[in-house]
Amino acid sequence: MISIAIDGPAGAGKSTLSRKAAEALGFIYVDTGALYRTVGLKFSKAGFDTELNCDVNEILKDTTVDIRFVGGEQRVFLDGCDVSEEIRTPIASMMASAVSAKGEVRAFLLEMQRKLARENNVVMDGRDIGTVVLPNATLKLFLTATAEDRAQRRYDELVAKGTKVTFKEVYDDMVQRDYNDSHREIAPLKQAEDAVLLDTTGFEAEQSLELILKTIKESI
Ligand code: DC
Repeated sequence: MISIAIDGPAGAGKSTLSRKAAEALGFIYVDTGALYRTVGLKFSKAGFDTELNCDVNEILKDTTVDIRFVGGEQRVFLDGCDVSEEIRTPIASMMASAVSAKGEVRAFLLEMQRKLARENNVVMDGRDIGTVVLPNATLKLFLTATAEDRAQRRYDELVAKGTKVTFKEVYDDMVQRDYNDSHREIAPLKQAEDAVLLDTTGFEAEQSLELILKTIKESI
């Protein structure tokens, strides 16, 4: 099986580009951030905030996360309910960042991700795919751009979906999450030594996709 690991900070265009690259290659696209968002949503529904003042394992014991592909598109299910849209709110983003710092949560989601890559050709994106989840991935890419650029993209996406947010909220949230994701003790966001660094600052989506596909095709 072929696996392309794409890591990088929030809003670097990973999900759109990974989805399109997977489509072009005929691979499955696995958005692992959606899994952390789903777990975050569970804790939010259980009444906890980002402090997570609870026994994490107790909640996880009572949690089912499923990933299904409907017409090639990934849907995520929390305890049997499709939450693919609900996980995209700013609250779900902050909760995802909080739960992703917990070793118990990372362990809970690890095997599911590895199994998908064992059984399918995948483009998998996240923060620790090249460093932890798939250390033997066929190709590792680290996709980045400036925080302003990334916040603008995320803001445009949210506005297009009708979510009411301000640019400042999105930017502040981005900077906070960058900090959380790269400073946590367990599986922090960092470029794998053997990853190819791609900086898409100022690039149109089309240009970034071309660059990614070129890099992938040169190496597989
Ligand atoms: O990519 P995203 O914004 O949907 O990710 C949501 C959160 O999950 C983000 O704060 C980082 C975390 N995450 C992670 O820790 N490891 C991954 N492989 C994917 C996401």
